Amino acid sequence: MATSLTVKPLSAAMGGEIAGINLRDQLDDPTFAAIEMALDEYLVIVFRDQDLDPSTLANFGQRFGKLRPHALESYRHPEHEDVSYIRNIDDDGKFDPFGKIRASTWHADATYEADLPRAAILHAKEIPSTGGGTYFANMCTAFEALPAEKREKLSELVALHGYATGPAGSHYQGKNDYANAYPEQRRPSVHPHPRTGRPILFINPMHVHGFEGLHKSDALAIVEDMANHSEQDRFVYHHQWHVGDVLVWDEQATMHRGAGDTPDGERRVLLRTIVYPK
Ligand SMILES: [Fe+2]
Repeated sequence: MATSLTVKPLSAAMGGEIAGINLRDQLDDPTFAAIEMALDEYLVIVFRDQDLDPSTLANFGQRFGKLRPHALESYRHPEHEDVSYIRNIDDDGKFDPFGKIRASTWHADATYEADLPRAAILHAKEIPSTGGGTYFANMCTAFEALPAEKREKLSELVALHGYATGPAGSHYQGKNDYANAYPEQRRPSVHPHPRTGRPILFINPMHVHGFEGLHKSDALAIVEDMANHSEQDRFVYHHQWHVGDVLVWDEQATMHRGAGDTPDGERRVLLRTIVYPK
């Protein structure tokens, strides 16, 4: 049986802050079960004032499932290949202009790959004096808020996913040579959450470039319409980072994007790990 946790809601849209847990401790099974239940309910959960190294972050991540190294070797942490850096500096500490805008358009991670991740975890190490936050959109409530007719129509559509091939993916083009290596993935536009069964609107404007049987221009209009719908404030939680935050998000029931507004000359360094179902 799960123990009860104190969870403080972070916004009307989603997000819960969990107090009283040190993630460096080996969590007992009832405590971890309560954390999983909080993630299922709040979709984004936050632990404050943590100080994890790559291996303790990986240990925590492994409780949720199987970790996977970042596709790009240069992102991997030298001490642990299953942990990667999200940062705006390169290995020599020089500012990387692309680091500012990377992942700053709405997306869910890796929907262009064969397997979908369950969750991802970010741990803030260095945060700018202002800006540099991350936005999350609740794709369950975004779906539930649509008119019934639209929900039915979307439920029949199969979306085509590729690496940054959607209307919001253009700033990635030419950045990674391996982009064309991913065969197109076909996924239902609405699918039940694997743990809770709640329907998820599973269309993101970075990776979805079409729908089976629809003309490209009609398809892109739907992708953009759904992106505009989902990014309304009523579905969105904005996380302003503090050093020590550990934030876990549900990779299927949410989209996310970086604010892309880190001031020039200020460092932003987070550790990340991504978790796949066991
Ligand atoms: Fe991402």
